[in-house]
Amino acid sequence: MKIIRTTPAMADWSRRLHREGVTIGFVPTMGALHEGHRALIRAARLACDAVVVSIFVNPTQFGPTEDLSNYPRQLRLDQALCRKEGVDAIFAPTVKTMYPAGAQTVVTVPGIARRWEGEARPHHFQGVATVVTKLLSLVQPDKTWFGQKDYQQAALVQQLVKDLNLPGHPIIHPTVREADGLALSSRNVYLSSSERQAAPVLSRALQAGIATIRAGERNAARIQRHMLRVVATEPLATVEYLAVCDPVTLEPLSQLNRQAVLLGAMRIGRVRLLDNMLTSFRRKP
Ligand code: PAJ
Repeated sequence: MKIIRTTPAMADWSRRLHREGVTIGFVPTMGALHEGHRALIRAARLACDAVVVSIFVNPTQFGPTEDLSNYPRQLRLDQALCRKEGVDAIFAPTVKTMYPAGAQTVVTVPGIARRWEGEARPHHFQGVATVVTKLLSLVQPDKTWFGQKDYQQAALVQQLVKDLNLPGHPIIHPTVREADGLALSSRNVYLSSSERQAAPVLSRALQAGIATIRAGERNAARIQRHMLRVVATEPLATVEYLAVCDPVTLEPLSQLNRQAVLLGAMRIGRVRLLDNMLTSFRRKP
């Protein structure tokens, strides 16, 4: 398995593989790899001849008061996981090679980035859109895997790739969960044991929202109230938002007459947890 550290070396490696007719699957990550990342890597391994995983804690997507400096970094363990999964190359660039002095271009996707995570984290999606644009241009993948776990990010990447004719054909992989429903996240390591016990309340709330829709509820405000009541049973949890949205634009819906996504974010102690679920909506007979 090759470890690539610089942007020219990454571009050269991909060019060489493409010349040989090899298809490249790409999984962009910030490391601290867990079973969620592993599922994306396995899907890429099955679909493409060669797999590249990027590990880059992208500073431009963290706000000034966020966890950039303590974000979990464990390159050794991540390398071992990648080697075990048959990854061909890890792209682990330094901040300097990704953002050399004088870099000034940024990419924004204003519509999708406006609400939800975009409101809570003002420059976050500009950082994500910029780094994903750079990564896709360097790696030139045939297909790229993103997790549904970060639904708004996945929607933003799909829009970005379409608008800028970027390579990489994004594929959205379902969220990998713990047995109690908690979505896996690199940030779950920050949860204390009582917080960890409380954390699945977010997925329970979304599941309850889905259940009311299955039972025939079509009024978004009532679905939202139902989800909020579930989170209110957990004293350690503070809701940031629980919303019923259009799955492409992420604008809130008032009435469900088509597929929707239920988006949720809550705080437990100093940890922000995100989750979402898609409805499999059928029109009422
Ligand atoms: P990171 O948080 O490391 O996540 C890398 C990828 O793994 C993302 O596409 C994310 O949605 C996916 N993922 C995380 N947890 C998952 C889970 N439980 N189930 C399925 N997929 C999961 O997201 C980022 O990094 C960065 O923003 C990045 C796209 C790399 C740009 O810097």
